[in-house]
Amino acid sequence: MVAHNFKSLLSVFVVLLLNINLCSYFSHASPDSANSSSHDLASPLKGLKLNGSFDFSNTSVVAYDFGNRFHFLPLAVLLPKTVSDISTTIKYVFDLANNSELTVTARGHGHSLQGQSQNNGGIVISMESLEEQKMYIQTGDLPYVDVSGGELWINILHETVKQGLTPKSWTDYLYLSVGGTLSNAGISGQAFRYGPQINNVYQLEVVTGKGDIVNCSEKENADLFYGVLGGLGQLGIITKARISLEPAPKLVKWIRVLYSNFKLFTKDQEQLISLNNTFDYIQGFVMTGLSSNFSRKNPLQAGPPSRSEGKILYCLEVAKYFNPEDTNTTNQFTENILSSLNYIPHTIFQTDVPYVDFLDRVHLSDLKLKEKDLANVTQPWLIVLVPKSSIQSFAKEVFGNILANTSYNPILIYPFNQSSWKHNTSMVTPAEDIIYLAAFLTSAPSSSSGPDGLDNILTINKRILDFCETAKLGVKQYLPFYETQGEWRAHFGDRWEVFAQRKSTFDPLSILAPGQRIFSRGPVMS
Ligand SMILES: Cc1cc2nc3c(=O)[nH]c(=O)nc-3n(C[C@H](O)[C@H](O)[C@H](O)COP(=O)(O)OP(=O)(O)OC[C@H]3O[C@@H](n4cnc5c(N)ncnc54)[C@H](O)[C@@H]3O)c2cc1C
Ligand SMILES: *[C@@H]1O[C@H](CO)[C@@H](O)[C@H](O)[C@H]1NC(C)=O
Ligand SMILES: *[C@@H]1O[C@H](CO)[C@@H](O)[C@H](O)[C@H]1NC(C)=O
Ligand SMILES: *[C@@H]1O[C@H](CO)[C@@H](O)[C@H](O)[C@H]1NC(C)=O
Ligand SMILES: *[C@@H]1O[C@H](CO)[C@@H](O)[C@H](O)[C@H]1NC(C)=O
Ligand SMILES: *[C@@H]1O[C@H](CO)[C@@H](O)[C@H](O)[C@H]1NC(C)=O
Ligand SMILES: *[C@@H]1O[C@H](CO)[C@@H](O)[C@H](O)[C@H]1NC(C)=O
Ligand SMILES: *[C@@H]1O[C@H](CO)[C@@H](O)[C@H](O)[C@H]1NC(C)=O
Ligand SMILES: *[C@@H]1O[C@H](CO)[C@@H](O)[C@H](O)[C@H]1NC(C)=O
Ligand SMILES: *[C@@H]1O[C@H](CO)[C@@H](O)[C@H](O)[C@H]1NC(C)=O
Ligand SMILES: *[C@@H]1O[C@H](CO)[C@@H](O)[C@H](O)[C@H]1NC(C)=O
Ligand SMILES: *[C@@H]1O[C@H](CO)[C@@H](O)[C@H](O)[C@H]1NC(C)=O
Ligand SMILES: *[C@@H]1O[C@H](CO)[C@@H](O)[C@H](O)[C@H]1NC(C)=O
Repeated sequence: MVAHNFKSLLSVFVVLLLNINLCSYFSHASPDSANSSSHDLASPLKGLKLNGSFDFSNTSVVAYDFGNRFHFLPLAVLLPKTVSDISTTIKYVFDLANNSELTVTARGHGHSLQGQSQNNGGIVISMESLEEQKMYIQTGDLPYVDVSGGELWINILHETVKQGLTPKSWTDYLYLSVGGTLSNAGISGQAFRYGPQINNVYQLEVVTGKGDIVNCSEKENADLFYGVLGGLGQLGIITKARISLEPAPKLVKWIRVLYSNFKLFTKDQEQLISLNNTFDYIQGFVMTGLSSNFSRKNPLQAGPPSRSEGKILYCLEVAKYFNPEDTNTTNQFTENILSSLNYIPHTIFQTDVPYVDFLDRVHLSDLKLKEKDLANVTQPWLIVLVPKSSIQSFAKEVFGNILANTSYNPILIYPFNQSSWKHNTSMVTPAEDIIYLAAFLTSAPSSSSGPDGLDNILTINKRILDFCETAKLGVKQYLPFYETQGEWRAHFGDRWEVFAQRKSTFDPLSILAPGQRIFSRGPVMS
């Protein structure tokens, strides 16, 4: 019901984007891919034998992403029906070798922020078209679900709970594809216990940059398995994934309490993530004013902060899963654990909601997008991972100075102990057990040059990153965005050699996901 309404909302969103923005944008632009030499590129693609098809005319539908800052028109969109379609296409491109600039980008749900799921003049693979893997749920002692790489997490949630099961680790927002989140990490309030989504995958099927279809796991082709997880789409296209499951609870006790002291806030967060018997979901967010609207359900809906008060509040957000028969023990548990915390008395907000509603709590409609200017809103998000040893200095400078007098909203901040995470993946994190995620998820009108305009937000984001750099806080970007290979090397640090080595093994001509701007087309140089 909720999902249905949301889908119609989402299509309104897409239609608006296309009608208002992109069509007019592209009718003025004359992209390279429309010239005669690229028609020569197109004809051999038309000759490939596929179960699905190429679309050469309706390409503007993939020339945007959620960030709405970059618009690249591809030559063609592959609508694959089978994994062999993807393999055939990549093999064709690979065999062109040095005689072509053609590249290939998998597009999940297009929720990247800086054009990562787009392709300028090459091929975009619409992963949601891939129908070969029907969702398959294995019950029993080690339950799992097999899904297509293009499957959306919201669909996985709805299917698995029917069998009383659920994936363990989530993102805040569920209209994202499996391939898209596993290429980054997939982080939310469950990651302190289970690690990010990349920690909860048993096996993948991947099409490499040579067009080979390969199964991989910790035991089989482990280098590819680890490399693809958090691999930013650089080593292969995830066509299938086997995701571990656990029994699904029916209800969730969802609680928020407030702090005015950042040290106490983080002390309590760290205490909670260190306990064995604790909440099932632990997050937190920053409110740079007093007027955020607490009757609203989620932080992304909180109203704009009040500047006049100038006071910063921190909200600890936790949740406990339970079934109706355990209501009393759950109430007892939460009372006990809350009594050990240091929040401001009488600032507790709590409610019981169905499990599915809790996980599906964030909808795009909440992101302050007014329909009339949807097409002109950009999302200049900045997300960083901060080691525990730096979090106090980070907060002091960023909240107390850089963001003072701005209306950044929402800002999420919460810790995990990453010592139990898989160490071999391509995900880059700071080198300490306890790390914090700090997410600045602000939006900006693309045209405005005022204090809330895109240019100013980008300048402030840069100030935050520059501060982290000069103060040597040991911070790493999540959903990293860099323009040059030098910056990418610095991001990967001592992991660069392994990453570049994996790239040269699995995508030696750098065909895959050029929108990440890590490698340019041609033989990989490490
Ligand atoms: C509203 C919103 C909320 C979010 N919340 C969270 C959150 O809570 N936690 C979190 O961790 N992240 C979150 N994200 C970030 C999100 O996880 C990433 O942007 C993710 O890449 C989006 O998935 P997608 O399917 O839209 O990927 P796309 O944008 O389509 O693709 C992103 C990248 O992955 C590659 N890719 C896509 N599919 C595949 C595949 N099958 N195989 C290989 N590579 C592939 C693409 O080529 C591209 O480089 C959020 C993003 C948005 C917009
Ligand atoms: C046509 O495309 C080719 C290859 O992408 C490019 O080099 C050339 O400059 C383009 N020509 C025009 C007129 O756009
Ligand atoms: C269609 O898909 C099947 C596998 O599902 C594959 O065996 C066959 O080769 C595909 N056909 C083409 C033309 O790719
Ligand atoms: C273009 O693609 C969109 C989204 O995939 C689809 O809804 C629409 O029908 C397509 N239009 C044409 C003319 O093929
Ligand atoms: C492609 O280019 C690389 C280096 O530029 C060269 O070593 C290689 O032989 C070339 N391959 C082909 C097939 O031309
Ligand atoms: C990958 O594994 C699946 C299921 O375990 C199997 O059906 C498939 O044939 C395997 N594919 C390859 C290429 O080995
Ligand atoms: C890391 O991956 C390599 C193969 O790439 C493997 O040999 C090693 O055992 C892995 N380490 C861990 C901790 O899994
Ligand atoms: C927490 O659980 C682990 C393993 O289940 C156990 O080794 C450890 O002693 C427990 N710690 C506490 C404080 O109970
Ligand atoms: C808070 O949100 C509710 C709906 O979620 C709305 O009715 C109410 O007007 C809001 N209050 C303020 C002060 O914004
Ligand atoms: C739960 O507590 C209520 C009152 O607090 C009591 O009436 C009820 O019997 C309890 N239920 C169970 C199953 O213990
Ligand atoms: C939205 O952006 C387009 C193109 O950038 C521009 O023509 C239009 O005037 C803008 N609309 C509004 C309401 O700002
Ligand atoms: C924020 O604004 C107040 C009042 O306008 C001013 O006193 C203060 O210096 C400003 N803080 C920063 C960091 O700019
Ligand atoms: C992180 O977790 C590991 C293993 O569970 C534990 O040994 C370590 O002490 C924890 N680190 C911190 C700083 O709490």
